Amino acid sequence: MKILFYCAKTYDQKSFNSVLGSFPDIEIEYIEEELGPRTAVMAEGFDAVCAFVSADVSSPTLTVLKEKGVKCVLMRCAGFNNVDTDKAKELGIIVKRVPGYSPEAVAELAIALALAANRRLYKAYNKVRENDFSLRNLRGVNLYQKTAGIVGTGKIGAAMARICRGFGMKVIGYDVYENPDLKDFVEYVSLDALLERSDLISLHCPLLDSTYHMINIDTIKKMKDGVILVNTSRGALVKTDDLIEGIRLGKFLGVGLDVYEEETGNVFNDRSDEIMEHSVTARLLSFPNVIVTSHQGFYTMEALEAIAETTLQNLLDARDGKKTPNDVA
Ligand code: NAI
Repeated sequence: MKILFYCAKTYDQKSFNSVLGSFPDIEIEYIEEELGPRTAVMAEGFDAVCAFVSADVSSPTLTVLKEKGVKCVLMRCAGFNNVDTDKAKELGIIVKRVPGYSPEAVAELAIALALAANRRLYKAYNKVRENDFSLRNLRGVNLYQKTAGIVGTGKIGAAMARICRGFGMKVIGYDVYENPDLKDFVEYVSLDALLERSDLISLHCPLLDSTYHMINIDTIKKMKDGVILVNTSRGALVKTDDLIEGIRLGKFLGVGLDVYEEETGNVFNDRSDEIMEHSVTARLLSFPNVIVTSHQGFYTMEALEAIAETTLQNLLDARDGKKTPNDVA
């Protein structure tokens, strides 16, 4: 079976090639192009395509893939908000993903962002490099005995809840389902109560119609003054213009974003020599209390290996007609 692997980076090739020996029936061709309606034609003659969060797996793309004989879309990520699952079902294209490959990888980045924003580590690093040993503008707060609010207490949210408990924080959660694994130390509350009570709010729910722009000026106004907000889930959970308004109102002690609405053109490109004319990212980065990373939550050795193994196993399961929890369509 042949996979056309879109938007392949060197680290993808390394991690997939390192496990390929255990999957002798599978061949992979890596290409730099991103999957979308125009590039889907390249998949002619391949059984499956492999794509990531920045791919456009909308109806037009799926229609071309179907015409070219592709039977399976392998998402090498947990989220699948960029896939038109209804269209895939209608066309009979199997779509599989990799849920929960390493929840700790993302949760550890979430707490890193919270700490970096709180203690202004990005400023401290640059100051010391320039022989500025003053403490000017670096004061943060203790997390110990503060309240962490986890929005979405699935696999990653649960890992974040455990980390926050380790910091000696009180942990409250909001989810449409309560996670029984957390019942000993997480108090479930309404979203409004979480917004009002939390000193640190970390977003870990998927992007759905019901969660789109859940952080907007109305919900921001319900938050405590001096709150730390972290988003490692999906950019569109937060309405960026409203976040900027909230930052300008002085609502936040710190904001840490691994994902943001405008990221699609950026992930994972070097645009350092471009003039980014209408960049909201640049506006965000102009604030002293904001740290932005480029969708690197998944990027640990352990996570990459688990993603590669599960993605290739997903193709074998698709071939064998095996239904698994990794099925999206
Ligand atoms: P999960 O499916 O284990 O947990 C998601 C939780 O959100 C579930 O408990 C679900 O009930 C809850 N949820 C659903 N609708 C909700 C709503 N309206 N309000 C509140 N909670 C709601 O997913 P997992 O593995 O924890 O991943 C969470 C998200 O993290 C993914 O959807 C993905 O977007 C993002 N992610 C980001 C990565 C990165 O590199 N930054 C890497 C991997 C995932």
